[in-house]
Order: sequence, then C-alpha cells, then structure tokens
Amino acid sequence: MNIVVVNGSPRTIGRTRFLAKQIAEANNFSYLDLAIEEVPLYNGEAEQKDLEVVKSIKELLVKADGLILCTPEYNNAMSGALKNLVELLGSEPFKKKPTSLLAVAGGGKGGINALNNMRTVIRGVYGNALPKQLVLDPVDFENDTIVKPDAFAKVVEVIDELKEYVQKEILYKEYIETKSVSK
Ligand SMILES: Cc1cc2nc3c(=O)[nH]c(=O)nc-3n(C[C@H](O)[C@H](O)[C@H](O)COP(=O)(O)O)c2cc1C
Repeated sequence: MNIVVVNGSPRTIGRTRFLAKQIAEANNFSYLDLAIEEVPLYNGEAEQKDLEVVKSIKELLVKADGLILCTPEYNNAMSGALKNLVELLGSEPFKKKPTSLLAVAGGGKGGINALNNMRTVIRGVYGNALPKQLVLDPVDFENDTIVKPDAFAKVVEVIDELKEYVQKEILYKEYIETKSVSK
C-alpha cells in the first residue's frame, strides 16, 4: 500500500510539518514537504510541466494509492502552498484517489474552514476526500513539534479509515483485472 503524506505548510518550523513528518515516520509512508520543495507559483505556461521538481512530485503522487493532505489554516482557508500545488498538477494525481484531510490551526476554534476549503478543492480535481477529518491545535503538540499521544491516537483513526478505503480500491482493481483477463 503506497500512501503519501503531504506537508502543506510552507514554514519549516510549522506544526503542520511536524505532524506530517510524524505520520510518515510512524507508518513508513512516503513524504512530500512543501516547506522544502522549490515548487514554482503556477503561471499556466506549458513549460512548468517539464520542470524536474514538478515532474517528480507529480510522479510521486500519481503512483500513490492514497494521500494524506495536511494543511495549516491560514486566513480561514487551506495554505496557498498546497492550493498552488493542486493548480500546478491538475486532476491526474487526485482523480478517484482516497484522500484524508488534516488541518492544523491556531487554537481559536479555527481549522474547520481549512478542512472545508480543502474538501471543496479536492472535489474540484475529482479526488475522493474521505469522511473522517481532524483539526490539531497548538495544545495537541509537545514543544510545538511532537503530536501528543492522545491527539495522535485520533490521527491514527483517520489513517485507519484511509487504509480501509485504499484496500478496497486495490481489491476492486484486482477484481477488474481478473475479469478482463478471463474474458
Ligand atoms: C499567515 C497565517 C494565517 C493564519 N490564519 C489562521 C486562521 O485563520 N485560523 C487559525 O486558526 N489559525 C491561523 N493561523 C495559525 C496557524 O494555523 C498555526 O500556526 C498552525 O500551527 C498551522 O500553521 P503552521 O503549520 O505554519 O504552524 C495563521 C498563521 C499564519 C502564519
């Protein structure tokens, strides 16, 4: 099962980044870090698709069976960095792909705006944004870097739902292949 976790925060010291890294390390998932990758600002020019960074990120996400998108809530929405990535890549990496949504907020009852915004955006690229979702606040982190065990247990519930949907997709694809071979 090939699952990719995406850090959608542009900040190297962002809590979203620490969450995404912790998920990837705890589960041995692949990891894409928008605080590190030099992703260009989408400008609609065809040459952008040929940039090495864009090609390699696209390949990583297209090959994934499932995605975990982690966004900070910035100004009542998902991050511009993650939204920009969606614009750059188009629908291919997302289409019909089981996708879990997580948000990290500032603690003033924020986060749900980012989740709802991201859900709408993923719908726009035909992704399969799953029902379980979660907001993490600063209080859910130890030293602003490590997700506390009780909060991480809730993250695990989100990951378990993703694994269930990914497994169903894999079994369905195998079934379709067997059917087409036996024709
Ligand atoms: C530009 C900016 C805008 C923000 N807007 C919000 C907001 O609208 N709602 C909220 O709950 N937190 C907001 N925050 C706080 C972040 O959600 C908080 O820092 C959280 O840890 C996720 O961001 P990070 O991964 O960059 O740390 C904002 C932070 C920044 C830097």
